[in-house]
Amino acid sequence: MVIAKRLDLIFEISQLTEGLMFKRFNLTRFDENLAFVWYDLMNDRSRNLALHAIARVLMGSALLIASPYAIGFFIDGLTNQSFDMLLIGGLLFLGIELCGAALSWWSQQVREYFFQSAVSYIPQAITRLYYRRPLSWLSGGTSEIDGSGVDSLREKVWNVMYSYVYQIIPGWGSISFGLIACTYANLWVGLIVMLYIIVERIIGNQENRYMQAEMRPVIDMFKRWERRMQAWWASADHIKSQGVETKITQYVHDDVQEAMRGDDAVWRVYFARRIVYQRLRSITVAASLYSLVGYLVFNERISLTVAVLAFFSFERIRSTLSDLNDQQRDVQSNLASIAKYRRVLVPAAPYLYNVGEPFNVRGDQKTITIAFDGVSHQVGEGEDSKCILRDVNLAIAAGEKVGIVGPSGAGKSQLLSLLVRAADPVEGKVLINGTDLRDWSLETLLRYYGVIMQKSEPFEDTVLGNLLFGVSHLDTDLLSVSELEQKAELALRKAGLDVGTFPSGIHTNIGYKGLKLSGGQQQRLQIAAAHMKLSMTEDSPRLIIADEPTASLDSLSELTVMQHLQDKLPHGTTMLMVAHRLSTVANMDRIVFVRPLETCDEHTPQVTAHASLSELYEAEALFREMADAQGFRP
Ligand SMILES: Nc1ncnc2c1ncn2[C@@H]1O[C@H](COP(=O)(O)OP(=O)(O)OP(=O)(O)O)[C@@H](O)[C@H]1O
Ligand SMILES: [Mg+2]
Repeated sequence: MVIAKRLDLIFEISQLTEGLMFKRFNLTRFDENLAFVWYDLMNDRSRNLALHAIARVLMGSALLIASPYAIGFFIDGLTNQSFDMLLIGGLLFLGIELCGAALSWWSQQVREYFFQSAVSYIPQAITRLYYRRPLSWLSGGTSEIDGSGVDSLREKVWNVMYSYVYQIIPGWGSISFGLIACTYANLWVGLIVMLYIIVERIIGNQENRYMQAEMRPVIDMFKRWERRMQAWWASADHIKSQGVETKITQYVHDDVQEAMRGDDAVWRVYFARRIVYQRLRSITVAASLYSLVGYLVFNERISLTVAVLAFFSFERIRSTLSDLNDQQRDVQSNLASIAKYRRVLVPAAPYLYNVGEPFNVRGDQKTITIAFDGVSHQVGEGEDSKCILRDVNLAIAAGEKVGIVGPSGAGKSQLLSLLVRAADPVEGKVLINGTDLRDWSLETLLRYYGVIMQKSEPFEDTVLGNLLFGVSHLDTDLLSVSELEQKAELALRKAGLDVGTFPSGIHTNIGYKGLKLSGGQQQRLQIAAAHMKLSMTEDSPRLIIADEPTASLDSLSELTVMQHLQDKLPHGTTMLMVAHRLSTVANMDRIVFVRPLETCDEHTPQVTAHASLSELYEAEALFREMADAQGFRP
């Protein structure tokens, strides 16, 4: 509540300063994007950081603006031949310089802290998945373009925050101080400066508008890119964490190349013109203002001290205003591009927004039960659509271990993908603890899921980064970096991975799509990630979803992995495991058989549950064939 109030204040200030410009450009509503940054991409820690920073920087800038007064003292000191005044003026000046130096050092520290301890885990699982991977590739060529620059989202979030905290808010603070100083010294000077501020703002806005127009072709290019991404998200009905990068790379590569070429050309023209404009403007403004003040001094309307005070205040106001133009453009462009990602990503990642009831196992929900209630699912649209699941009814009790078997292409992976809302079923409901999955806030629910998917690509990140993928900030926020590292090492051991084999341990970067790892190592990394996630919610019941978790492992590694996945699981863990090697699921509590669907209106149950493999062997001819082919006799 307090934060929201304070945020409102920021909005108000920003709207005062930028509202006009935004209305003109008809951009995405500004505060929504800022709210997105504030609520969805930042955590409590970074929000606190921002609030503290604003407070401190405001104080710093108040001190800084005292400089004209220091100069005034200095001049008075000279004219009065008073040594005290001279000393005070000198000391004040020195103090201000030191403050400035300290402030810039401090902002560096904040930046480091922001990236290392807060933001590295802020974009959370989802942000990492959807933003960081594609963007880490894209950021190979950073570009500002229409502000849909292609540098990483983390940079953008930081830039927005930085602009507000260090430039815009203190900038306006410092302009107000300067204006008050001038008006206090002499009403005429105050009025002149006020007039200047208004004119400068109008010119600055014009300039920004002009830039927007110049950037149009590039913006259009990015619009196209956005549409393609949107189309892709809409058709991605499989687990969306899989192969994202390859697809996006493939889709946007050409567009981005083209956009960057256009970007270069546009920028060259823009800067050439801008330099000329700016020079002309500053010469004109300086000449007219200084002659005006000179005139006032000459006619003895104001004293020399007041004139010096006015000049210094004015200089500060002038440089701050021109910085503000740049800052506003940066903020506007960063927010516009954040808005783009938001528009693209929100439909794809419902859990980005924590809509729905928070799932709290430690509170009300003591166990996890699953039920598929008349679930039918299909992929594709229109002529291309294909029925995959038909009227699935299945209830899984808390703590139950269920093996899922069936021929290739039957729909086993699709069934599991419904549990993480990679897609929502076309008909029927998936219930978790009796509530429709769609009504739970997914971020809070997925905390208790360990997911090992059949197809997965690790991210171009460190081993630790990959393990933290999927871990909620709700959990990481409570832990120190060393605690996280300890948990990571334990998780790796449970997956049969030896940290020692990586050159820099858990901080080793595993390369693009994990190319520096073998196939089996990649799979074990994913298993370790599931352990990592579950180790965050240690005393809570959890759910393990494993789709062929040991397909790329040798029998010895499989043994270790399975021990930790099955036998050494904490009491009450619910498990769903798909396996082709039937021995893997022989000890499960129940076996679910998934039969491939021939047509959309079949009436024989497609998904059936059995007490054991031998019962299934008796009941299903198709399964008998499969088992016989493997030489498996239940
Ligand atoms: N993105 C997609 N677009 C179109 N069809 C798809 C898509 N994903 C899966 N399918 C189809 O859905 C059906 C079920 O796929 P699914 O991956 O669930 O099979 P599976 O039982 O897990 O098979 P396997 O044992 O080989 O992993 C398949 O026939 C496949 O062709
Ligand atoms: Mg599958």
